[in-house]
Parts: sequence; structure tokens; C-alpha cells
Amino acid sequence: MTCNVIILAAGQGTRMRSALPKVLHRLADKSLLEHVCATANALDPAQLNIIYGHGGESVQQALAGLTANWVEQTEQLGTGHAVAQVLPFIQDDETVLVLYGDVPLTRKETLQALLNQVSATSMGLLTIELPDPTGYGRIVRNDSGKVERIVEHKDASETERAITEVNTGMLAVNGKQLQGWLGRLENDNAQGEYYLTDIIGMAVADGIEVRTVQASNSYEVEGVNDRLQLARLERYYQGMKADELMRAGVGLRDPARIDIRGELECGQDVQIDINVIIEGRVRLGDRVQIGPNVLLKDCVIGEGSHIEANCVIEQAETGRDCSVGPFARLRPGARLADHARVGNFVEVKNSSIGEGSKVNHLSYIGDATLGKGVNVGAGTITCNYDGANKHQTIIGDNAFIGSNSQLVAPVEIGQNATIGAGSTISKDAPADALTLTRSPQKTIKTWQRPTKPKE
Ligand code: UD1
Ligand code: CA
Repeated sequence: MTCNVIILAAGQGTRMRSALPKVLHRLADKSLLEHVCATANALDPAQLNIIYGHGGESVQQALAGLTANWVEQTEQLGTGHAVAQVLPFIQDDETVLVLYGDVPLTRKETLQALLNQVSATSMGLLTIELPDPTGYGRIVRNDSGKVERIVEHKDASETERAITEVNTGMLAVNGKQLQGWLGRLENDNAQGEYYLTDIIGMAVADGIEVRTVQASNSYEVEGVNDRLQLARLERYYQGMKADELMRAGVGLRDPARIDIRGELECGQDVQIDINVIIEGRVRLGDRVQIGPNVLLKDCVIGEGSHIEANCVIEQAETGRDCSVGPFARLRPGARLADHARVGNFVEVKNSSIGEGSKVNHLSYIGDATLGKGVNVGAGTITCNYDGANKHQTIIGDNAFIGSNSQLVAPVEIGQNATIGAGSTISKDAPADALTLTRSPQKTIKTWQRPTKPKE
């Protein structure tokens, strides 16, 4: 049996107080709607239908890479009306799964359990017990405990309001049955809306059993209405990610102070200090140590390497047993071979640093290729940009670049060459020789320091 997913995302989300449609707000650097779509797609549905309304074009643009059937709901006349917009795209024999674009953290397993409740004579409804059910639709059961109907908070009596089992909004139902019930919805209720929840009473009247699945915890079914809820869900999500990492053997100095906004893959005995942010896809080899306050984005850190405090590393790669930082920046295209060292206040962009080479202090290495065993002295800069074009610097194995040198690209430094400190090298420097540009040192013995005139 194929399943057809409907995601309701037409709400404006006024309580976010934002120009951005609510479902585009981000949790762990992914929009709320992308979270829902990812979980839905994990169920391998026949189709993903997204109901959009206010700001819908920007939502579609933001999710341009997604294969989905975008259906507009021009007027928001209620959840039942919203789902009805998708009916033309639903086959009779399909199971329809209704999800919400602002409920990002539902687990795939929970939804699978919900789908499993659907048969010719039954449907599935996801509910949860809440100590404070205010505002939610209540699940009304009969004496033998069977679900009878849902009553919305605003329409509920005192006794019904005392019910603590509430509707999460998520349900799974046969397509043909859904069509029949949606056609009969009316809006004579407290909010003047077409309630999707009214199909529950209709199902029971038609002899369809409403089987409930309970969510494992409230975060799974919590929607985002304001920034406080968004932040709370982000914390919960990060807590889950930290737990997953630790269970997999990753050492976290403080699980409350790590943010995984992408995918992190770790080898054995990786240690991560506090305030580390992971974005995109990051892979850390065995025994890698990440110091405090480090941003790692789309990078690979080879086994045994240490990233010291306060580094920013993006689209870069290190070999094994490298040392980076503290306070280093590896920009896109930085590649460190095994045992390379990049020290404090060093920026590396689009360059390879050969095996065992060192750039330890206050340098800029851009568009350069360094061989093995190169030593780049403090304050060395590759002048890679002439104001219009970028040029390459090539440094041979075992070259020694004296401190405070400028290498004006395009330029090549030969193997085993030595560059005298303070040189501006604009022509190739030969191998095995000392090259320097330096005005001779003089001493003027008769010179006197100026003094202030005496009063
Ligand atoms: C709904 C349920 C309620 C449940 C609660 C859980 C109904 C009638 N009530 O109430 O039983 O406890 O969710 O959070 O279904 N939407 C549209 N188009 C519309 C109306 C709503 O796309 O015309 C979307 C909204 O963007 C929102 C979601 O559906 O994401 C829920 O709508 P809302 O009106 O907020 O329903 P609730 O009052 O929260
Ligand atoms: Ca709501």
C-alpha cells in the first residue's frame, strides 16, 4: 500500500513576529519544513503534497531542490479545508498521512506506527497526554475506551476540557474514506472553520475504528508558534544529538555546549571541548581532539589531529597528526598533508601544505602549494592578488621562508631554498641558495635624538 503525505504549511505564524514564513525558520540550520519533508521522505511516500498559503512563493523557492506537489490554499478556512485542497491528487487505495510543516521533530518510527494502524476498517491518530492540554483538541473516548470524536478546546465543555489526551493533528487514513468525510465537513463551530478533526466522529459513525498511537514525548509533536518554542525545540534536538554522539563513543566535555547543525561522523576516541559548532558534513578521524570555540563546516580532520581553541575551518581537509590553531582559519580549499602544523593567526585559503610543513605564526597562505618540510616564518604573506587576478606561489620541499617575507605571486621558491627575513620576493628563488632583498644595515654614530626645547 502506497502512502501519500500531506504537509500543512499555509499558516502565517504571526507569533514569530517575522517577515519570514514560519516554516522557513531554522532548527539546527535546516528549515522546519525541510525537517518534516526529510522525515516524510524517509517513509518512501508515493508523493509529498505541501499546502502553502501566505508567502508560499518564498517557501517554494527556499525548498527548490525538493520534489513535491505544491498546492495553494488561497483562503485559510481550516485544517479540513486545507487537506481538501489535495484531494484531486489522492488515489482511492492510498493511505494519506497528514503532517504539519511547523512540527519538525516527529520520529520516523512514530509515523510508521501510525501508518500501520490503517486498514479497510481502521485509521490511525497520533495523540499525546499533556499535563496542560489548554488549546488542543481533546480525544473523547467512550466507556470501553474507544475513540469517539475530537472536540476542539474552544468548543469543549468543562468535562471535556478536563481530558488530558490531546490531538497532535497527525493522522493516517485511507484515501477514499477521507474523500467521503471531507466532502461532508461543516463549519458551524466556535471558530467558523472546517475542522479536519471532525472526520474522527464520522469515521466512528461509519464503523471505522480510530486506533491511537502515543508519541514518545511531547517534543515529537510540538509545533513552533513563537521563537521561544523554536529555541526550546533546538535545545531538545541538540541534547538528542549530543546523546547520540556520546553513545557512539564520542567524548564531549559538556553535552549542553555543542551544536550540531549538520552531519558529524566520528572515529574512535574523538574528544570535543565546549562551544563547538558543526555545520554541513564534518568527518573527524580516530583520536581527533577539537578545542573550545571551534567552528567546523564541511571539513575532514584526519586521525590524531588536534584543532586547538578558536579555529574556523570551512571546506578544508587535514591529514593525520596535524595541528591547527589556536586562532587559525582554514578557508575553502585548504589542504594539510600529514603532520603539517598551522599555528596562531594564520589564514590558509586554496592551498596545500605539504607533509610536516609548518606555518606557525601570523601568516596568510593563499593559492599556494608548499612541499614537504617547509618552514614558513612568522608574518609571511603570499601576495596572491594583483587587484584583478589571483596567482600561484609554489614552495619546494624543505624551503625556509624567513619571517616577515612577502612572496609576490606568481613566484616559485626552489627546494631547500632559504629566504632571508623581511624579503619581498617577486622573482623565482633558486633551490639550495639564500635569496634575500634587504637594504644594507647602517649605523650613524653621530646621530642625536631630538630633545624638547628647554623653557
Ligand atoms: C489543530 C487541531 C487540534 C490539535 C492541534 C495540535 C484542528 C481543527 N484542530 O488545532 O485538534 O490539538 O492542531 O496543534 O485541526 N492550517 C492550514 N490551513 C488552514 C488552517 C490551518 O494550512 O486553513 C495549518 C496551519 O498552518 C497550522 C496547522 O494547520 O500549521 C494547524 O492549524 P491551526 O489552526 O493552528 O490548528 P490548531 O488550532 O492548532
Ligand atoms: Ca496550532
